[in-house]
Amino acid sequence: MLLTLPHILDADEVAEVRQRLATARWADGRPGAGPQAKRVKNNEQLPHDDPAAAAVREYVLRGLDRQPLFFSAALPKRVFPPRLNRYSGSTNAYGNHVDGSVRFMPGSGQRLRSDLSCTVFLSDPADYDGGELVIEDTFGPRAVKLAAGHAVLYPGTSVHQVTPVTRGERLACFFWIESMVRSDAQRQLLFQMDMALTRLRETHGDGPETVALTGTYHNLLRMWADT
Ligand code: NI
Repeated sequence: MLLTLPHILDADEVAEVRQRLATARWADGRPGAGPQAKRVKNNEQLPHDDPAAAAVREYVLRGLDRQPLFFSAALPKRVFPPRLNRYSGSTNAYGNHVDGSVRFMPGSGQRLRSDLSCTVFLSDPADYDGGELVIEDTFGPRAVKLAAGHAVLYPGTSVHQVTPVTRGERLACFFWIESMVRSDAQRQLLFQMDMALTRLRETHGDGPETVALTGTYHNLLRMWADT
């Protein structure tokens, strides 16, 4: 499932984030990538301990907390500390790859299984050409290029790429989520049920049927969640 998470950052936050990133010390994005990804990766990243990266991480994590769709769709158990990347000039693309399945979290040394990937777009799409995030879906490739401050959530299992940026620069924040519900199919069922319940509550209030179905949702989550 591909899902847009709108307004992770508002316009003021995007402006502040971009200002922080304008003077940041970008580095070669290849160290840390696996052998397959390294061959096709050609971008820049901010070192994890860069102060600008730390500041932007806080904005993004706060934004995720404000967005109920994120919790409902990802059912997060652990979130990888968000990273920042830049595509521009001669370091402008990332060919087809699959993200590593198990990642070590900087700082804690804990492992995280990358069930879901998330990209928060930070540049205005009018300011750069190319730079689409192309995700292989069961329906074929899907190209994603969102307004600054919006994010896309997609399965960590999917082959994806960032097409060459041929004008301007593309700034983005990306991270992985280990979900309490490992199965994509089970997670998707729970998300669909939660969305339908929200609409039921809006249109009909909390009648006995809605309460019963809410109970069923939680009982399924209880059955499938690994907390
Ligand atoms: Ni990737």
